[in-house]
Amino acid sequence: MDLPGNALFHPRSVAPGNAPAQATARTRPPLGQGLEFVWTDADFARVQTLIYRHAGISLQDGKNAMVYSRLSRRLRDTGHSSFHDYLGWLEAHDGPEWQEFVNALTTNLTAFFREQHHFDILAAHLRSAPSARWRVWCNAASTGEEAYSIAMTAFETLGPHAAFKLTASDIDSRVLATAAQGCIGSRASRA
Ligand SMILES: C[S@@+](CC[C@H](N)C(=O)[O-])C[C@H]1O[C@@H](n2cnc3c(N)ncnc32)[C@H](O)[C@@H]1O
Repeated sequence: MDLPGNALFHPRSVAPGNAPAQATARTRPPLGQGLEFVWTDADFARVQTLIYRHAGISLQDGKNAMVYSRLSRRLRDTGHSSFHDYLGWLEAHDGPEWQEFVNALTTNLTAFFREQHHFDILAAHLRSAPSARWRVWCNAASTGEEAYSIAMTAFETLGPHAAFKLTASDIDSRVLATAAQGCIGSRASRA
């Protein structure tokens, strides 16, 4: 079960005043008491380092609460009782949890023709060499809306017989699985 974004207080939370000593001493004030898991600045810094090294994702300090919320589920699913233990276990094993860790920390916002000016620029490029053999790589494609937007732009600009090949990829295995189904939800089509 996912916790709502702001629901950092779990039913199993400790009562204010009874928080573990290390939580009161080392945890950031907004998250301080009532957390299911102890969450320290050192834990957050460790997550920042690991996700940057592994995926090139730069997590700003303002993402502290978001990271706690998203990774808490990984602790529950893997049976760890602290971030310290979970992150140590993660670092010590080169297993499938790394993909789960990445999936938990990616943000997959997308929409058709999100940031329209990119597609205007793409269309201008395509028009500059309409007979070329075009190869486009849409990386960080999320669930596919951007890739479809690129394909539509190419189709409208070059016509149906153009030599145009598009590859799309993403680091998050969940969005790729959604993209592979080829079903675009109503939320995307409204954007
Ligand atoms: C905010 S979404 C943007 C989706 C799409 N490009 C758009 O503009 O509509 C960012 C995507 O980048 C992906 N991502 C982050 N780091 C990545 C990396 N190192 N390699 C590939 N994809 C990555 C995330 O999984 C996420 O789906």
